[in-house]
Amino acid sequence: MTSTTTHSLAIAAKGLHKAYGDKTVLDGIDLAVPAGTVFSLLGPNGAGKTTAVKILSTLITADAGDLHVGGHDLAVAPQAVRAAIGVTGQFSAVDGLITGEENMLLMADLHHLSRSEGRRTAAELLERFDLVEAAKKPASSYSGGMKRRLDLAMTLVGGPRIIFLDEPTTGLDPRSRHNMWQIIRELVSDGVTVFLTTQYLEEADELADRIAVLNDGKIAAEGTADELKRLIPGGHVRLRFTDPAAYQSAAVALREVTRDDEALALTVPSGGSQRELRSILDWLDSAGIEADELTVHTPDLDDVFFALTGSTDTADVPAQSKETVR
Ligand SMILES: Nc1ncnc2c1ncn2[C@@H]1O[C@H](COP(=O)(O)OP(=O)(O)O)[C@@H](O)[C@H]1O
Ligand SMILES: [Mg+2]
Repeated sequence: MTSTTTHSLAIAAKGLHKAYGDKTVLDGIDLAVPAGTVFSLLGPNGAGKTTAVKILSTLITADAGDLHVGGHDLAVAPQAVRAAIGVTGQFSAVDGLITGEENMLLMADLHHLSRSEGRRTAAELLERFDLVEAAKKPASSYSGGMKRRLDLAMTLVGGPRIIFLDEPTTGLDPRSRHNMWQIIRELVSDGVTVFLTTQYLEEADELADRIAVLNDGKIAAEGTADELKRLIPGGHVRLRFTDPAAYQSAAVALREVTRDDEALALTVPSGGSQRELRSILDWLDSAGIEADELTVHTPDLDDVFFALTGSTDTADVPAQSKETVR
């Protein structure tokens, strides 16, 4: 942080504080999001994610804090911040009574685009977000995934360089969620800075360059997904064998396994990503070993919080007393 100047940061917050009455929601948090990166604010329901998004997008004011977005001081130049950002989330701008296309054109008007430019931009974005077929139908008839896509398309009309996405996939089915992830990746490849809130570790893991875990009004931990996972003891893959010889070979072939000689089971620490699973399977394949059962325990938000808040609940942690083979 000390080597990063405020200028290269799309979003910079120092000592961000917000309370509602005597309930402190954000207790002096610091955030630093380099331009062109995805930053994820991860936290459970009620953690204060939306409050942070609302403050940083000028919808409400903070009680205290030195806050800069797009290089502009929120306290001094909220209009300049508003011009630089786009926000979508729980407070959707989609009007259900009019069509998707009309929603887009309304947005173009708000951004003072000319009629022809507005039509061109709307058509381009509807195409990009796979909404051409639905464009002439009332937005109220859209599925959850379509509404989110329209909402994001509307946000992009003004060409914002910084986008706030407040729980963009909460409540979506898996296919729509992956669809949204792909859209977010494309935004990032265009150089847009994304501030993403989520309750899902998996989502932050998929998309974010850096993740901050919000807990009890404070940033409990901040880092890359891998850095955070190292704090989480819960993630592992368990391999079970019926053939003792196969079990022995696997225990030797795999590094960093915890052995359970009685159950003929091996536990390998793992974040559960496809890449990690593949490397475990490749190891077994190349050694000509076949496990009879493979189960994955993926670290979830609970694991993060157990790890970060010093909870003594270690029920899901593999036994530490067993021999570890290098
Ligand atoms: N306008 C408000 N007045 C009073 N309390 C609020 C208000 N908005 C949010 N809160 C409270 O602040 C806390 C954080 O809310 P929020 O930022 O919406 O959390 P999240 O988005 O992480 O679920 C919650 O306890 C919520 O009840
Ligand atoms: Mg929220």
